[in-house]
Amino acid sequence: MSIEINSPLDMHLHLRQDKMLKVVAPLSAKYFAGGLIMPNLIPPITSLEMVKEYKKEILESIDEEFVPYMTLFFKDSYDEEFLKSIKDEVLAIKLYPSGITTNSEGGANLQDLTSLYPVLKLMSELQIPLCVHGESEGFVMDREKEFVEVYENLAKTFPKLKIIMEHITTKNSVELLDKFENLYATITLHHLLITLDDVAGGFLKPHLFCKPIAKRPEDRAALLEVALKAHPKVMFGSDSAPHPLHAKESCGCAAGVFTAPIALQALAQLFEKKGYLENLESFVSLNAQKIYNITPIEKRIKLIKKEFKVPEKYGDVVPMFAGKTLSWSISEE
Ligand code: DOR
Ligand code: ZN
Repeated sequence: MSIEINSPLDMHLHLRQDKMLKVVAPLSAKYFAGGLIMPNLIPPITSLEMVKEYKKEILESIDEEFVPYMTLFFKDSYDEEFLKSIKDEVLAIKLYPSGITTNSEGGANLQDLTSLYPVLKLMSELQIPLCVHGESEGFVMDREKEFVEVYENLAKTFPKLKIIMEHITTKNSVELLDKFENLYATITLHHLLITLDDVAGGFLKPHLFCKPIAKRPEDRAALLEVALKAHPKVMFGSDSAPHPLHAKESCGCAAGVFTAPIALQALAQLFEKKGYLENLESFVSLNAQKIYNITPIEKRIKLIKKEFKVPEKYGDVVPMFAGKTLSWSISEE
């Protein structure tokens, strides 16, 4: 059995910098036509020069053709002139609540949402999509649920602003998709596969620890329902977030699951098992093309039902399913 996917896209990807960038970027570039590159670096990407420089570094670290769709780190201080100047260089602006996840300390203060309105109004007028890490500062399992009111507020206040709820993990977030025309979502591989039980139900699994944390079986079921059916408002975004082994297997584990090199194989395995293989191309490419209005480069990827033994490590990063065997692989022919 095999399936061809044209131009897979990963619409939420962390490529990092320096040595790590050189290890992980080629892994995405090999099988994906493009990816939406997250800006939570040290320091975060907040200027046109930084966007251009980071894009250059990404392109220099890969050999394959791959389009890094760039993002900018949201600041409520951006003005019209600046936003006009970056409009053609970025595909979206990413909003992080301050301190909510890796390198988000300079993020927005959501206590007073109206402080974000002037920039959001400009983004709406300039048609720059807003990507959001949607978590409150509440109890870890309720953070995304508590953020629903923020999504509702933003969606209602800016009906023309395209808002992408990043890496959704709950049933409540899924329900928002059909409630507001301007809300969309990315879904990761790991949130389609695991629940909190897999992370902390037995021995603690640092390589499955991420933000937002994996939730309940009923939440996963809601995510699966829209992903497998390729609901037109959802798209694949791996949130592949590599951290070196010492930062994961430590007291004070960094958040992030590294999935980029195994994502397509694991998605094929999942979609086949559930009987929805024919929807995989929509989930990993066509939906994103329509949502973001992009035409990716041609890259035909052939997935075949043949065992793939996942490496224990890529550099010093441990991937999801390290050392395990997946039933689908990517044809190198
Ligand atoms: O688990 C996560 N890791 N979630 C995020 O939102 C950020 C990411 C990272 O950059 O490590
Ligand atoms: Zn992320």
